[in-house]
Amino acid sequence: MAKHFQAVRGMNDILPAEAAQWQRLEATVRDVLAAYDYQEIRLPLVEKTELFARAIGEVTDIVEKEMYTFADRNGDNLTLRPEGTAGCVRACLEHGLLHHQTRRLWYAGPMFRYEKPQKGRYRQFHQVGAEAYGMAGPDIDAELICLSARLWRRLGLNEVSLQLNTLGSSAARAAYRERLVGYFTARQSGLDEDSRRRLQTNPLRILDSKNPTMQALIAEAPALLDHLDPESLAHFEELKALLDAAGIVYQINPRLVRGLDYYRQTVFEWVTDTLGAQGAICAGGRYDGLIEELGGPATGGIGFAMGLERLVAMLTAAGRPGADSAPHAYLITVGEVAQQIGLVLAERWRDEWPELRLRLNCGGGSFKAQFRRADHSGARFALILGEDEAKTATIAIKPLREAQGEQVTLPQEQATAWLRTAALDKKS
Ligand code: HAM
Repeated sequence: MAKHFQAVRGMNDILPAEAAQWQRLEATVRDVLAAYDYQEIRLPLVEKTELFARAIGEVTDIVEKEMYTFADRNGDNLTLRPEGTAGCVRACLEHGLLHHQTRRLWYAGPMFRYEKPQKGRYRQFHQVGAEAYGMAGPDIDAELICLSARLWRRLGLNEVSLQLNTLGSSAARAAYRERLVGYFTARQSGLDEDSRRRLQTNPLRILDSKNPTMQALIAEAPALLDHLDPESLAHFEELKALLDAAGIVYQINPRLVRGLDYYRQTVFEWVTDTLGAQGAICAGGRYDGLIEELGGPATGGIGFAMGLERLVAMLTAAGRPGADSAPHAYLITVGEVAQQIGLVLAERWRDEWPELRLRLNCGGGSFKAQFRRADHSGARFALILGEDEAKTATIAIKPLREAQGEQVTLPQEQATAWLRTAALDKKS
């Protein structure tokens, strides 16, 4: 037999048994976004490479070594999106969504980064992102953080904490960059190779290094918070006051610099200790300046994206149930006449109760074999349509799970009402 294909490394199938957890998560996220009046935008998976280079920054890990980039048949240089913010701004500018108005948008879907795959880090992964435009903050900064906090509450995820920092204005950041270059240049022998390279290209990212031998050097480095311009400082103070008023607990992390170049002012990350090394479940910040950089008006932007694989892993580890997807009932038919009636009845029942999840036995089989399939399906009831029931226009309903009473036989037109009551019973 030929060897079957395997999925590409770092790109996962989400199997039916896991999909229920994804569905519940996605439904909850949608509900919470709607509660803040965010509107969905659907974006292409592929954009021009130049968009990401300009938005995320030429000398970031993502652009330098993680993008799936290719020339299409026309010779255009294209990239599978590594994140959603750049495409979202591009779409807003292309369709004039930011003309003298504010916007709150969200998107969901796969992103692609050629990273080293490990638990919680994949080459195809899924994000839900939220982006807000045309508001200078910090009110919108605080609201966006409240939104994410509400989501964790709704999902019952308690072991998460919020890290907060500010990167200041472009000018403050540039002045700080100079100071940092001075500091690390004087101590170059203590830097690893990666950081020495970053000293020329992206010195702020040195602060992000996880290399244990550099931690003392990093701890002593000048802190951006001490070099902030007065406006940025006021913005940050006001944001903290808003979060305090809303009862949101946070830790200031002066080393939180983020891996994408478009951030200014507020940056934040929700982290957890429960997932091992890949503990960031949601991250974002302000990116005033990006919209102009991509050819739009000078207008503010802020957003975040959360990693769905990591959230699903947390929900599963916490033993949260997924969306209820098992069928309510499995319809067994015995004999050719019953088979025909069964198909018609199943259609009628689905008309009567659109939420009904009914699996019809297809592919024949003895009563015993069908009954076994009914049990395996996870259905709560087997509906049995034998020759007698076919003749008398009745249906036998046999409970398959726990103590749900005796088998009953009902007129066929009462079946959906009966099942609906039984399904509601389960919820109460
Ligand atoms: P990011 O920090 O690169 O930001 O990604 C956001 C989240 O996506 C991370 O916190 C993590 O949960 C998840 N994530 C990132 N890479 C992977 C991976 N390889 N495997 C699994 N999960 C991953 C952004 O993407 C920004 N666009 C967020 C943003 C939106 N900022 C403003 N608006």
